[in-house]
Amino acid sequence: MKVWEVQSHWGIDALTAIDRAAPVPGSGEIVVRMRAASVNYRDLLTVQGQGVGNELPLVPFSDGAGEVLEVDTGVTRVAPGDRVCPMFFPSWIDGGPTAEKRSDPLGGPRPGVLQEEMVLDAEAVAPVPEHLSMIEAATLPCAALTAWRALVVEGGLQADETVLLQGTGGVATFALQFAKALGARVIVISSSDEKLEQARGRGADHLINYRTTPEWQDAALEVTGGAGVDHILELGGRETINRSLQAARVGGKVLIIGVLSGFSQEIAMRSIYGKNLRLIGLSVGSRAHFEAMTAFVERHRIHPVIDTVLPFDSVPAALLRMQSARHIGKICLDFTI
Ligand SMILES: NC(=O)c1ccc[n+]([C@@H]2O[C@H](COP(=O)([O-])OP(=O)(O)OC[C@H]3O[C@@H](n4cnc5c(N)ncnc54)[C@H](OP(=O)(O)O)[C@@H]3O)[C@@H](O)[C@H]2O)c1
Repeated sequence: MKVWEVQSHWGIDALTAIDRAAPVPGSGEIVVRMRAASVNYRDLLTVQGQGVGNELPLVPFSDGAGEVLEVDTGVTRVAPGDRVCPMFFPSWIDGGPTAEKRSDPLGGPRPGVLQEEMVLDAEAVAPVPEHLSMIEAATLPCAALTAWRALVVEGGLQADETVLLQGTGGVATFALQFAKALGARVIVISSSDEKLEQARGRGADHLINYRTTPEWQDAALEVTGGAGVDHILELGGRETINRSLQAARVGGKVLIIGVLSGFSQEIAMRSIYGKNLRLIGLSVGSRAHFEAMTAFVERHRIHPVIDTVLPFDSVPAALLRMQSARHIGKICLDFTI
């Protein structure tokens, strides 16, 4: 069976497809025949050597979906033929985050999903919603769950509230779909008018081009009649964090998720205490969060927005597409073509 590894050095050019013997399940384990995977911005950082605690060689990518092929004797949670997603944090089943539960995400440091057959703990998978294809399901474990946890678990988003989303990538597009299904008002900022029009088609209420309106926080305040935004998904990092603090309403929440424009920035402390803001850092979520999200996805018949589907032998091309930032929604790999 084929496996993709980053081998001798970090970089997209070091990705190599190798052949390995088919795995066998150990105690309490299962083997999943992977059918699809999807790319997250994190995978790009990981392959370029910017992940924490990763060692070469590494099988990258956290998000995928497949069918259970084989289970160890005694495993009853899943059966051969079941359609499942591996969990981003295999050790985080439920409850709040702890260092231990967050210690071994897939795709770095633990081997990721770019394996035609993958051994997993039987507890570390969850069922795929019935109305989704394998490609669609492969987008859920990181991007969708992060958007869900930010808006629903940590944010407690209510129907009449306002949400601001940065860009039209994987996390932001799921957040748009979830927020609209919950009846919230959504402001989307993007570098592209064309992408903004597509966001409008998915229900976005207010559109701001952050290239032509670099002071987008003022435009967001205007949209809310000067009151400010209830929930801001902070994905940009260095270029966006202080603008997010300005755009938030008194008592609003800034959900700190991403670092698209860089990690470090001097923070406007006065806005945080002066406006009684709640800054909440979060990373993906537990299996219980995932199961609550997939129940919602099923109930609202939500279909993930797929940008591109490439064959399994095109892993470097998928990462280059993400690097180009031309995508909307998710870039996927189909292991069956
Ligand atoms: N904490 C977590 O658990 C977690 C989980 C998932 C992702 N993340 C992080 O969240 C971020 C987004 O991840 P993703 O996978 O959704 O990425 P993605 O699909 O690559 O999204 C990239 C998009 O973000 C927008 N963007 C880039 N720079 C921006 C800026 N300065 N201001 C506003 N928008 C900007 C652009 O949208 P337009 O082209 O429309 O401008 C770009 O296309 C990354 O930093 C990732 O590492 C964190």
